[in-house]
Formats: sequence, structure tokens, C-alpha cells
Amino acid sequence: GYYEEPFRPQYHFSPPEKWMNDPNGLVYHQGVYHLFYQYYPEDIVWGPMHWGHATSTDLLHWENKPIALYPDENGLIFSGSAVIDHENTSGLGSEENPPLVAIFTYHDMEKEKGGGNDHQIQGVAYSLDNGETFTMYEGNPVLLNSEFRDFRDPKVFWDEDMKHWVMALVAGDHLRLYHSDNLLEWTYMSRFGEDQGAHGGVWECPDLFELQVEGTDEKKWVLLISINPGAPNGGSGTQYFVGDFDGITFTSEQQEAKWLDWGTDNYAGVTYNNTPGDERIFIGWMSNWDYARDTPTEVWRSAMTLPRKLSLAIYEGEYTLVNYPIEGVADLLVEEKSLKLQVPAGGEVSTELNNGSQSRIHFTSPMEDLSFILKNESGEVLVLKLDPGQGLLNLDRSASGLVDFKETFGRVQQMPLEHLGDGELEFDIFTDASSIEVFINKGQFAMTAQVFPTEPYSELLISNQGSEPVEILQVEVHAVNRVWR
Ligand code: FRU
Repeated sequence: GYYEEPFRPQYHFSPPEKWMNDPNGLVYHQGVYHLFYQYYPEDIVWGPMHWGHATSTDLLHWENKPIALYPDENGLIFSGSAVIDHENTSGLGSEENPPLVAIFTYHDMEKEKGGGNDHQIQGVAYSLDNGETFTMYEGNPVLLNSEFRDFRDPKVFWDEDMKHWVMALVAGDHLRLYHSDNLLEWTYMSRFGEDQGAHGGVWECPDLFELQVEGTDEKKWVLLISINPGAPNGGSGTQYFVGDFDGITFTSEQQEAKWLDWGTDNYAGVTYNNTPGDERIFIGWMSNWDYARDTPTEVWRSAMTLPRKLSLAIYEGEYTLVNYPIEGVADLLVEEKSLKLQVPAGGEVSTELNNGSQSRIHFTSPMEDLSFILKNESGEVLVLKLDPGQGLLNLDRSASGLVDFKETFGRVQQMPLEHLGDGELEFDIFTDASSIEVFINKGQFAMTAQVFPTEPYSELLISNQGSEPVEILQVEVHAVNRVWR
């Protein structure tokens, strides 16, 4: 049957076949959300990059489309973004039919071998039929480079105050900003970041956007920067900075990195351009360069995170980027049960899961010595363990299913839980055939990880290592409908 292979995600996007990495060109136009992605159509490991393509009207049900962009004489098609050029500033379309313009990195493998710094340059392609077909811009490349070994992943947006386009791209250890009146000629503006945030690896896939701070009139700018390696739990991860952008320079008082997601498997994520109501919707690649090529699937490799709405909140004086599945996900849920559970001191309780590998599990818990364990009939366990002493949530997938394809895969992952207010933790856990996404307090904390259980998890076991009984309230289990027909 269709999409019924072992580990095939049932409500997350995965490519019909072959290798996928970063989401690219996230843009909304005329009722359609586009998802382009780094794609190698010949194998299930990384290779010469194309842009794969899928479309959706709700970000959950996807239609697979033909490959959008193929490598050409300028090189492979690496990551980038897409905009709708409403005023036809580029002249590539018309005001009646504004072009959908993709801005991406060309990577030239021959030049890379040559050892110069000229192998990553930026190019443009455009579509006049809402993404059905693309034409490469004849004047490519639009931004040359001979200075930086890494010079890639342009994210372009329209700056309404300055009335021009801005491009954010990364050059190894810093962000660079450029501006343009027509998307085709770019002028350097400023740089950010050598001395701020995490630098355990190369900076990739920037995104820069403004958000209103929840419950205030204040607006702040948020910069997303993926980094590989150097994430808190190893390999690749996504840090962010909260700051200001004056039209030329991004500044942030923040010295230390903050992390959008503490799990090992949310990388290269960026947000949609041109969404209705200016919603900031994020999609990440649900893998990690540490073992992306080793995961035990055969027909395709890897999936995207659930689409998540980003918002900015202040918790105990600290700006926090909140990320939580879009509201539409609720339409996929089918109620199984709703209960409360009393867990005796030193004891455990368990409740059955009918669709454990395709569930949403919700509950509220105090910050106590508790473990929440997803378990299947083969005894495979995925353990979420609260550590109130250290203020941590640990995710232990070392016995969760297939794990030995890479030695680092079984390492316990930790997420610090700070600024908890009343101390209550509201959990939302989404499991699919090969992933778990844990959200606490509606996205104040997020943790995303791949898992490969050999059969569905069939029970939720809650164990209490403390000396007092604990009540777990508002336990709700939902099956999540599959989205593929
Ligand atoms: C991030 C990344 C990007 C690059 C692309 C190549 O995962 O390394 O920096 O453009 O993947 O596929």
C-alpha cells in the first residue's frame, strides 16, 4: 500500500522516495503553501542537490509535485527561500501576475575541489504559474563570492519600512545582510554574530523576522541560526537570538545561544514568507547530520517536523521563542480517552495506547521524580524522565527500538526546564511511526527526536520514584489521522 513501509510517517511530510534534507522556499501564494526541500532523487543518502516540491492548502495534507529545480552549469541547488514579488520589482513577471521568485545557493563541486572560496554563490529562479514550473534567471549568479568558504542559505524578505528586499545569509561563523530593489542586484549592509551565540560548528540556514511580544505592544526581531555540529545534545541544532533590526544591522544583547528545540532532530528549520495574517510558521528537518544517512529506512530518508507556529513570550523577564504545532493539527485528532491518573509513591500506573505510534498524548504533571515511558510488546521503551533536582527533562531512546545504526544515537538527551512559574508542566506529545515531538507549556519548551520502534508503542507507563503520591491530570489520548490518501 501507499506509505505503509516500516517507519513511514503517517502525518508528517516525508518524500515519496529517496533522500531529503532542509526545507526550502517556504512561501504561501494564492491559497497554496509551498514546501520545497533539499532533494537527491537518485539515492537515499545525500548527493547532488535539487529542490523537491510539495504543496498543501493546510500544511498537513501534501500533494507531491515534480522536482522544481535541477542543478545546472552554475552548480548544485543548495538551500534558500522564496518570495512573491507583488510589485514585480524584478521584472520577471507582471503586477497582474507577480512572479514567485526562489533565491538559493549554487554549490559548484569542481570549484570546491579547486580549494578557492568561489564555490558558493547565489542564484535566482522564478515561476509564473504558482510553482508548477520554474525558469532559471538568465543573469545568474546574482551574488558572487570569493571570500568565504561557506556562503549560503539566503533567506529573503520584504522590508516594509525600508521598501526594499533584505537577504540574510551565513558565512561560516556569522550572518551577513544584503539589500536589493529588484532581487537581482544585492548590496552588502552588515554582519552579526562572530562573538555571540554558539560556535561549535558552521552556521547554516538563517532566518530573520519580527514578532510581537505576547501580551505587550513591543516588537522584537528574531534570528534563527542552525549550527552543525555544536547543538546541546550533539550534532546539529537550531539556536536563536532575540534583538533589534534598524533596517541595516541586527543587534542582540544576548551573549549565549538559546535553543529553539532541545531534541536532536530539528534542524535547518525556517519560516514561511507571505502567510495570511502574517503568521510565523516554522518547519524543520527532523534529522541530524550526525546520523542522517544511517537511519534504518529503505525507500526514503527522513521527514519534516510538524508545522509550528512561532511566537515570542517573556517568562520571568526572559524572551523566549515559543514553538507549537499549528491549530489545524487539532482537526487530525480522534479522541481515545480522557482520564486522570494517581501514581503511588514508589509505584507506577499504566494506560493502554491503541495507536501508540500515531498519537497525541496530553497531560499535566508537577515537577516531581517521574518517568513517562512509552512501551511496546517487545519491551522497547522510550523514556521521558523528569529530574526536579537538576531541573531537567531527559529523553532516553537508548532502548526505544532500532538504535545501533550509530553509536551516538542512544545518548540521553537533556532539556533544562527554567522559568516554570507555578511549576506545572503541561505536556503535549506527538508520536508518529519514527518520531516523537514533546511540547511543554504550549511550546515554551520543545524536544524533537527520531525513534525506530519495531512495533507500535502500546502503553504509557508512568512511574513515580518520589516519596509522595502524584496526580497526573487532564490525561488525554488521541489517535492522529493519517494524511496520505
Ligand atoms: C544544512 C545544509 C545547508 C546547505 C544544504 C545542502 O543542512 O548543510 O547549509 O545549503 O544543507 O544540502
